[in-house]
Order: sequence, then structure tokens, then C-alpha cells
Amino acid sequence: MRILFLTHAFNSLTQRLYSELTARGHRVSVEFDIADSVAEEAVALFRPDLIVAPYLRRAIPEPIWRAHVCLIVHPGIVGDRGPSALDWAIQNGGDGNREWGVTVLQAEAEMDAGPVWASETFPLRAARKASVYRLEAAEAATRTTLLAVERFAGGDFVPTPLGSIPAPRGMFRPPMRQEDRRIDWQNDPTATVLAKIRAADGFPGVADSLFGRPCHLFDVCAEAGALPGEPIATRFSDLPAGAVLARRETALLRKTSDGAVWIGHVKRPGGIKLPAAPAFAGALADVPELALASWWAPAGETWQDIRYEEEGAAGFLHFDFYNGAMSTTQCRRLQQAYEWACTRPTKVLVLMGGADLWANGIHLNTIEAAEGDGSSPADESLANIGAMDDLAEAIIRTCSHLTVAALRGNCGAGGCFLARAADLVWARDGVLLNPHYKNMGNLFGSEYWTYLLPPRVGADGARAIMQNRLPMSAAAGVALGFLDACLAADPEAFLSEVAGRAAGLAAAPDFAGQMRAKRDRRAADEAVKPLAAYRAEELAQMRRNFYGFDPSYHVARFRFVHKSPHSWTPRHLAIHRDLGWSADKPVAKGSGE
Ligand code: COA
Repeated sequence: MRILFLTHAFNSLTQRLYSELTARGHRVSVEFDIADSVAEEAVALFRPDLIVAPYLRRAIPEPIWRAHVCLIVHPGIVGDRGPSALDWAIQNGGDGNREWGVTVLQAEAEMDAGPVWASETFPLRAARKASVYRLEAAEAATRTTLLAVERFAGGDFVPTPLGSIPAPRGMFRPPMRQEDRRIDWQNDPTATVLAKIRAADGFPGVADSLFGRPCHLFDVCAEAGALPGEPIATRFSDLPAGAVLARRETALLRKTSDGAVWIGHVKRPGGIKLPAAPAFAGALADVPELALASWWAPAGETWQDIRYEEEGAAGFLHFDFYNGAMSTTQCRRLQQAYEWACTRPTKVLVLMGGADLWANGIHLNTIEAAEGDGSSPADESLANIGAMDDLAEAIIRTCSHLTVAALRGNCGAGGCFLARAADLVWARDGVLLNPHYKNMGNLFGSEYWTYLLPPRVGADGARAIMQNRLPMSAAAGVALGFLDACLAADPEAFLSEVAGRAAGLAAAPDFAGQMRAKRDRRAADEAVKPLAAYRAEELAQMRRNFYGFDPSYHVARFRFVHKSPHSWTPRHLAIHRDLGWSADKPVAKGSGE
């Protein structure tokens, strides 16, 4: 079928549906929701059999839904309506059974009130909105959308009108306002503060203030050591609720009515989302540092972005960086942790990334913010890519361990090649990779991709991946040779499969032989062309991106971090806008087929 996506952005869910539907032989084209007339033009050009709206913030224009079946993917249970579905669910703890869901319904005059084509529920995890959206909601949305598309293709399915569903658990909810999200630091217990900030994270955050200055709060976690009677509670007992008690690396600890929470990120008025402590650097003189004791995973809840665990002969290094972005400092700290982990008496080291994202490359927000503090975004870009390259090189040169990157969540740009620096890359089924850089203002890219990619997918394959700029599913990644294995879709099953496989690798009778072969391969590669030469060539191109005449990277980064609205759909996604496009003839280029 010809399926047109009308969507606000090519976000993770849209990408997932795009790759699932194209893999099933459908021809998918994308139009961003820029204006009614643009959407109508896209429909006229593409002449779709079906329209799908994976992520829409406005209603579909009436002339479109009257003439075509339009399936809306709504991140809510049946009967739920309104634009703040997940926000209300997370803040209120779900539907009473701590459950939430996804409903695929047909667009009609009243928003989210059309007949239901498919729906599913899932247990609601205590996590930030963006994480639930990327994991449980994305999985449920994929299954329900594929089912709805199949039902539509069958031709005889009749969707269920909302009114004929007896006592649906969902209801209309108005847009959530900042007033609904407001934290009362004197009276709100930790559980309420966590729920409020998680419900607003990634967008829009909770409007609040720190050090007497307004900001929006994001990225929260509880501190077990601040429970009544615990050391932190005792140490800071004389400070009032709401006070900033301490800092750790980039996070700030703030007192609640019955404990304390860490705030990892803030957004100040007119600014962009940034790590909390650096965003208030000038106000921290009297704030004590509560340093981490070690890299070992803590027993109770606390803020620890890099944590290490061991199971027999396998080590597991987690790095749960907000949004998968890796700043210069984070790369340096991760490299220290990595090098320490390599001194452990283990045989296999697994790089776990974060729960819902593995890594998304250099930290575009801290780069953007570098302006005005003696550095510049160009200088910080170079410093950040240097730190990424050092980390990638440390992984490539590891001779003490067999290394594995275990991708529980999505991976983008330099994050993909950081993963590929490991000996093996295993991905959870459902994970999406974007192993290319060009979407960020034609960045050339580094992280030794010119060394790592061609041997896996061939020179032509590497060129195609870099030029096409399309997402790659885990299954496609294995078929292309970019990944070594696609494991269970369920996150818990994935973790136990990873642990089992890592133990199996460590126990392999030929482990010593495998390590010898790895060292020999590296030495042979180095003799043909040293890693330093790959790095120098990549960085020469990157310097041009950062300091050269063409400002595309700086413009793209500015638009990305400031969330500038799209003014057109990229041509590689909107195939109906290709010069040679005709709805009557098959299209190869950029169609994803
Ligand atoms: N630096 C800083 N923030 C980043 C980031 C990066 N490298 N990559 C993603 N983010 C942030 C986004 O700004 C967004 O922030 P929000 O919480 O304020 O909304 C959040 O992560 C989620 O990103 P989004 O684009 O909505 O996620 P997605 O899953 O839909 O898309 C990517 C995934 C990888 C395609 C997309 O995030 C991307 O293009 N990232 C940039 C990759 C890049 O160019 N890195 C630099 C070169 S190495």
C-alpha cells in the first residue's frame, strides 16, 4: 500500500513505524505537519491508500479525513482524549490499575474520539514520560498500528465506535497546565515530586525556581540516603524543604517534605535544556559536593549516571546519560570508568548504555551553551569529538577483555559508532539506529567510523548508509552486518539474554584463542593503516564542519537544540516531492523499499 505519514516530526516512534511498514513492503512517504495546505498538497501528490499520524499535535484537516481513512496513534487507553495523555497518566499513576495504553483510532471531527481500530494496554512504569514513550508506548504503538494497517488492508474490518464501547476507562483530559504541575516543596512528599517532574519530562518540564531564579526542572531521581533517619537527612536536618542540599557532578540535590530528590537538568528562561549544576555554576559556592564513592552500582536509589556491576566473569558498565547525549566531561568520566572496569578480573565487558537510549553522540546542548564562557561552540565541538574519539579508541584497543555493546535503547550518530567500537554489538529487537551524521548540517562524523563501518557493510553499503540518512531496525542491522545479533524485544528478557550470552562468551573453551585472534587482527589493521591516520582524516573534515566557510552544522545544531519548527519535510522522507515522482510509477530512490 501507499501510506502517507502526517506527523509533527520524524521522531523515534515515527521512525519505528516507518521501518516496520517499509520492511513489510509498503511504500511510505512523510509530510511534516506544517500547514493544512501543505498536508493537502502531500495527499494530492502521493494519493495514499491510507494515512497514518504517528505523532501529531494538531487536528488533521477535514477535507483529508473526510476523503481518506486516517489512523491516529494516541498514547492513551481507549476513551482517553486530549493532548496530555501520558502526562496525566504518569502524574496520577495510570488508570487506577497502574496501567496505561495506546489506541489507534480513526480521525473524525472530535479529536481522539473516532472509531477504534486497535488498542493495547501495558503496566505503567515509574519513569519519565519520554522513557515510557520510547519503550512501552512505542512497542504498543507499533503492534497496534501494524494490526490496524493489516485490518485496513483486509478491507472488511469495521472499527468500533467509541460510543459503543461500554464504560471505557479513559476520559477527556484537558491540556495539562503548569498550575497542575506545580510543586509545593513544603508539603509534597518525594513520591509526588517524582511523579510531577516525570510527567513533564522531556517536555515541558515543571516551572519552578532554583537559587531564587526561575527555571524548568527535568531529569529527577530519588535519594535513598535522605529518607528519615538516613545520613543525608540527619546532616541537612536544619535546612528547610525546597533547599538545595548538595551537588554531584552535574546534578543538584533538593529537599522535599520527607526526603530529597536529585535534579539532573534545567531549562532557564529563553535558554535550552542543560545539566543543572553547570547551569547555575555561579551559585554553587556554598553547595557541598556529595561525591560518589566508586563506580560500583549503589545499593539504594541515588543519582549515579555511570555504574558498574559484575556477574561472574562478566562486567556490565551502565551509562545512563540524559537523552543519550555525551558531553566532553561525560566522555572523559566514562573513559575513566571504562579503564577501571578493564582492570577487574573479568573476561567480558558489556557496555550497557542507558535504559531507553544507548547513546546519541556529542552533546549538542552543552556545545551550544559554550558560547560566552571563554569557549565557542566550534571549540567545544572539537573538544567533545576529541573526547568521544579517545573513548572509542580505548574500546577499540582493549586487549584485556572481549567487549560487547548491548543496545537496550536507540542509538544515533556517533553513539552508533561508539557501540561498533566494541567487538560485538547486540541490540534489543525494536531498537532503532541512525548510524549517520549528515542530518546534523552535513557533519562528516568521526568516532573512527571510516575504520569501523566499511569492513562490516562494504564500501558501497557504508556509502548508502551515510547518504540515505534513514533509520535502521535491529533486524535490518543484523542483515546488513552492522550488528551481530538481534535479541529479545522485552527489556527484561533482553537483559537476561545479554547476561547469559556474556557468561557464555567468558566460559567459551576457546576464549584465549579468541583474544589472541582479536589482538592479531588489531595489530594487522594497525600495520595497514594506523588508527591515528583514520582519526586525523576524519578530524580534518570535522574541523571544516566546525570552523569552515559553510555554517550548516552550526545552523542545524541551533535549530535542533532550540527546537525550531520545521519549515519543510526533508526530501529523502517526502518521496512524493521527488522531481520524478508519479503515484502511478514505482519509486526506488529514498523510498525505503
Ligand atoms: N545532544 C543533545 N541532545 C540530544 C542529542 C544530542 N546529541 N540527541 C538527542 N538529543 C535530545 C533531543 O534534543 C531531545 O531533547 P528533549 O528531551 O528536549 O526533547 C531528546 O534528546 C530526544 O531526541 P529526539 O530527536 O526527540 O529523539 P528521537 O528518538 O526522536 O531521535 C535521533 C533520535 C538520534 C535521530 C535524534 O535525537 C538526533 O538526530 N540526534 C542528534 C544526533 C547527532 O547529530 N549527534 C551529533 C553528532 S555525533
